[in-house]
Amino acid sequence: MTLRGRDLISVRDLSREEIEEVLASARKMIPYAEGTKVMHPLANKIVAMAFFEPSTRTRLSFESAVQRLGGTCVTIADASVTSMRKGESLHDTIRMLSSYADAIVIRHPSEGSARLAARASDRPVVNAGDGAGQHPTQTLLDLATMQEAFGTLSGLKVVLLGDLKFGRTVHSLAQALALFGCEVVLSSPPSLALPDQARRRLRQSGARVTDEEDVRRAMKDADVLYVTRIQKERFGDLAEYEKVAGSYRIDAALLQDAKPRLIVMHPLPRAGEIAPDVDGTTHAAYFRQSFLAVPVRMALLDAILGGPRRGAG
Ligand code: NCD
Repeated sequence: MTLRGRDLISVRDLSREEIEEVLASARKMIPYAEGTKVMHPLANKIVAMAFFEPSTRTRLSFESAVQRLGGTCVTIADASVTSMRKGESLHDTIRMLSSYADAIVIRHPSEGSARLAARASDRPVVNAGDGAGQHPTQTLLDLATMQEAFGTLSGLKVVLLGDLKFGRTVHSLAQALALFGCEVVLSSPPSLALPDQARRRLRQSGARVTDEEDVRRAMKDADVLYVTRIQKERFGDLAEYEKVAGSYRIDAALLQDAKPRLIVMHPLPRAGEIAPDVDGTTHAAYFRQSFLAVPVRMALLDAILGGPRRGAG
């Protein structure tokens, strides 16, 4: 694996082959993520979690991944208790953290912050979400979920539904789907459409992309319905948010028209976009998706940082 010592800021930092290697390694990590097998390639490694924005799954699955691999974490879970309150810059905070840890995982509300952090750090930096920018490790676990369900990624028809303007998970995922030759259907209220630059990039990479605002029509023949939350916190004007709030909702009745094998995914948290009555259907893949965060992040950290295997296989 060629990821050793490298940063991961955008999905574009990875080739298709590198993504495939992480996914293959993640599959093998599942029993280690469940705790039924043990190995410690991160023994003596410290990973810093620098989270300047709310997080449940991303931070805890990263911390779980580090500890399952025998490493330890130092964590900023709330910027308000750090010296940034005293005016310390992100640059200085990260530079200092890079002398306390072997790698840094960062989440921050500003687009471009993870790239800035990577420049400030002489240790590998992993982007766990930079504003409305990118969320590449979420994409890896999204791909792992699709691959587990269908045995392959190529040729899948994937609907990206919801906030395609501010949603960093879909910005990253769309690029990866293009790499794997998927068909992408963009379904959003017009004011939350995928930004032009992202759309151009998709077209340039040869992806088959169509727009269909109506979710019922978008879902026709789809393999994956990837639902996202409207990113309320990114709206400058809350009145604009109110105009689109509640504009789409997936429930079990709607899914009766879907392909029997369609999977419904969501990076979570959900805020009303998927009704609880979907949870009990065979379509619901979002809780499996959130579990796969652990083996996928283990595979990634092992590739970037891992030493020799220790512990029982
Ligand atoms: C997403 C995020 O933070 O971008 N959550 C996550 O990482 N699982 C999606 C969201 O907050 O809507």
